[in-house]
Amino acid sequence: MEIAELVASKVLDVPDFPKPGVLFKDLMPLFADGPAFAATIDAIVAEHGAGSFDVVAGIEARGFVIAAAIAYATGKGVVPVRKAGKLPRATVSATYALEYGEATLEVHADAFLAGERVLVVDDVLATGGTAAATLELVERAGGTVSGFSVLLELSFLDGRSRLAPRPVHALLTV
Ligand code: PRP
Repeated sequence: MEIAELVASKVLDVPDFPKPGVLFKDLMPLFADGPAFAATIDAIVAEHGAGSFDVVAGIEARGFVIAAAIAYATGKGVVPVRKAGKLPRATVSATYALEYGEATLEVHADAFLAGERVLVVDDVLATGGTAAATLELVERAGGTVSGFSVLLELSFLDGRSRLAPRPVHALLTV
């Protein structure tokens, strides 16, 4: 099965979550299926070779799952990009608009070496607010974003335009 078809088969649409009017894309069934999850990670690593980045940044919360698996598969480390107030040491932070509300993300100020190449991963790219805030955080913390990788891109929201000219790769685009 093609990877896009596999991802599509494992997405559940949840109406009115977390707020009325929002159609939530739930990728938990993909994480829960061992062979499907392995194929997903293999496909991301095939797209973003281990030579193209130094560290993986995973966006809370589902990005953590993907980032850890990519890091293990490529022998790299993981940096968590977290919701406000979760990290114990000095941070840089960015507040952004979500499809449903507002949020603040943080990363440790010393998370990256100067010029370190960072692959940013998450489950879904929607408006791109989360990914754009992460781009800002990585760069303010001294890293450089080598690319973005998501499982599912909602192209009608055009999130990728906010990340140009960095490469954005999605396993499934709808
Ligand atoms: C979801 C998803 C992405 C973000 C994408 O996270 O996991 O991180 O929204 O939306 P955007 O492109 O419009 O910014 P959510 O806010 O549900 O946080 P969670 O993963 O901690 O539940």
